[in-house]
Amino acid sequence: MSNDPLANKAQAWSALFSEPMSELVQRYTASVGFDRRLWRADIDGSLAHAEMLAAQGVISARDGADIERGLAQIAGEIERGEFEWKLELEDVHLNIEARLTALVGDAGKRLHTGRSRNDQVATDIRLWLRGEIDGLAALLVAMQRALVELAAGHTETVMPGFTHLQVAQPVSFAHHLLAYVEMFARDAERLADVRKRVNVLPLGAAALAGTSYPLDRERVARRLGFDAICANSLDAVSDRDFAIEFAAWASICMVHVSRLAEEIVLWKSQNFDFIDLADRYCTGSSIMPQKRNPDVAELARGKSGRVIGHLMGLLTLMKGQPLTYNKDNQEDKEPLFDTVDTLRDTLRIMAEMAGGIVVKADAMERAARRGYATATDLADYLVKKGVPFRDAHEAVAHAVKIALQRGVDLAELPLDLLQSLHPSIGDDAQQVLTLHGSMHARRVAGGTAPEQVRAQIARHRARLG
Ligand code: ARG
Repeated sequence: MSNDPLANKAQAWSALFSEPMSELVQRYTASVGFDRRLWRADIDGSLAHAEMLAAQGVISARDGADIERGLAQIAGEIERGEFEWKLELEDVHLNIEARLTALVGDAGKRLHTGRSRNDQVATDIRLWLRGEIDGLAALLVAMQRALVELAAGHTETVMPGFTHLQVAQPVSFAHHLLAYVEMFARDAERLADVRKRVNVLPLGAAALAGTSYPLDRERVARRLGFDAICANSLDAVSDRDFAIEFAAWASICMVHVSRLAEEIVLWKSQNFDFIDLADRYCTGSSIMPQKRNPDVAELARGKSGRVIGHLMGLLTLMKGQPLTYNKDNQEDKEPLFDTVDTLRDTLRIMAEMAGGIVVKADAMERAARRGYATATDLADYLVKKGVPFRDAHEAVAHAVKIALQRGVDLAELPLDLLQSLHPSIGDDAQQVLTLHGSMHARRVAGGTAPEQVRAQIARHRARLG
């Protein structure tokens, strides 16, 4: 038998074990099927650890160089798809270490000095997640840009603003889109904040208590681009709240995506008919030839469910764990990976699709007119003439009732009829009853008036670069 302890998993922990693992236990406990995706982080972490061990004189410079050479070769093998992942070696860490030892002998066996898989895996996840966070941050910028540029062409496009999904007041389509830009801007801020707590180095905590080797943790942190080192070794190996926080960020972001997706589905339905989508984002029906369904938006809405589920999964995974590392933690990876994959694809596709929305401005305007969206404006008009708001509200309610009975818009009611409802209504009232008049009047900061919305677009463009 080989004298390489990692050649056979039953021997990985020593001679203490008298029987091999059953095939079922091996499969049940192995994580290499999914955690191999951490390979690059694992190699980067090992390179930094080995370089520091050599600098501190814990291993020889020659061993350090051998480790570096071996790991470089392994990285090449993995990239080329030549690396042979072995289930019996349990996880990404033991697979790479075993191969290293096969390549460079004893130097490979020295790599794990002053280190445990407990601080190793925590480091790997943080390194990997940090890279993914940077990619997601860029996608959030792209999403905001797509919405801002679509909005820029629609500051004068009137649509009904809704409350209770009932027509409420006219707003511009641009203003509506910029509401989502605000949400995604907050998501970007939150993500940057999560990154701070992800970017802290566990290595040096070893199994749980720290190590007696003279490790230079700051050196490793600098080399790997971490902002700080975990200050408590027990916390370092057991903390997964950075992952929970990321999943919480992802859940909030997906809720925003899902709301936008829901609006796209509604707008594209024949009942609203506010927009059209490019064919490449729609699918047909196998039975109904007339169908062009907004499947991409529906799926984006649906996928928010799995991301929120992953957050619940991670919270539940942690809630009963005593300090410090427990094997439960191996279950943190699949939800985290799936969360990242789902966010990456969803943000990309939604930005592309939303940016290409075809706006049916006439239909939007018609819908706003149908819903007496300027009723508040008539009430406000009366208030400006000294009428108490509640009385104005009542007079306008009568006007809406009559307009409804006649099947006409408020602006189409004759002036003498309006005046019979309230004597303060003058011939300047009709102007405030138009949709554009109403929209232009809402000039308060943050309001829907085109000049306000244009200022917001300029601010976003400057911010997004
Ligand atoms: N595959 C393990 C995980 O993902 C690595 C750490 C294992 N540590 C241990 N002491 N069994 O968590």
